[in-house]
Amino acid sequence: MHPKKEVTWEAFQLVDDAKKEVAIKAAMMVNDGDILGLGTGSTAHYFIQKLGDRIKNEEIGIMGIPTSYQSFFLAKDCGIPLTTLDEHLPDLAVDGADEVDPDLNLIKGGGAAHTLEKIVDSAAKKFLVIVDESKKVQKLGDFPVPLEVIPSAYRPVTQQVKKLGGTPSLRMAEMKDGPVITDNNNFVVDVQFKEIQDPQELEIELNNIPGVVENGIFPGIADQVLIGTANGVESVKK
Ligand code: 5RP
Repeated sequence: MHPKKEVTWEAFQLVDDAKKEVAIKAAMMVNDGDILGLGTGSTAHYFIQKLGDRIKNEEIGIMGIPTSYQSFFLAKDCGIPLTTLDEHLPDLAVDGADEVDPDLNLIKGGGAAHTLEKIVDSAAKKFLVIVDESKKVQKLGDFPVPLEVIPSAYRPVTQQVKKLGGTPSLRMAEMKDGPVITDNNNFVVDVQFKEIQDPQELEIELNNIPGVVENGIFPGIADQVLIGTANGVESVKK
């Protein structure tokens, strides 16, 4: 859910239903024998659960490569056999997103997992994105761009980000005092830009700042996006 948007319970339910619908559709696209990148977040959660159901009910033989501790533990609970990028490359990666533009550029990292997500999603033969329609935008940048940052580099990184026109803010934890710590033991700095004219260029500029491990712009990596709407699921291909 967008960090700046307040939503009613009814609106939340509609979004949640749309997430479930796209997640189930994506899980039905999986073939017996596939190696799968398992995304992170609430939409990916439904995808992983449905995969677990298919393994139990249809006895399909698949293996998953998780993109976070969240998807690792969930996949194990759902009975999905796991592997690593050392052993296999994914045939298909399925993951959520925080924003999707008409060229299928994405912002990800609402769950602070974008570093491993980018590694797994880019390594896949096909990267399928699953979102509800609130994630569709004409231009990226309303959602702040998450940066995973080495903690000791926090100050210099924020100074560099300001020079690029961004307003950085350290992501704070909710059930822990102090900042969010990622699965890789780093900070997350969310950077608000007025508008992002060129996602490809900004992605490179942000990753060139020493101390930035990875940023949440995914330019041109997605092959297909399934969008859950009030009238069913829309599919957009590259
Ligand atoms: C985690 C992500 C998520 O995929 C993204 O935040 C979308 O999450 P959700 O499906 O819960 O809306 O990038 O780092």
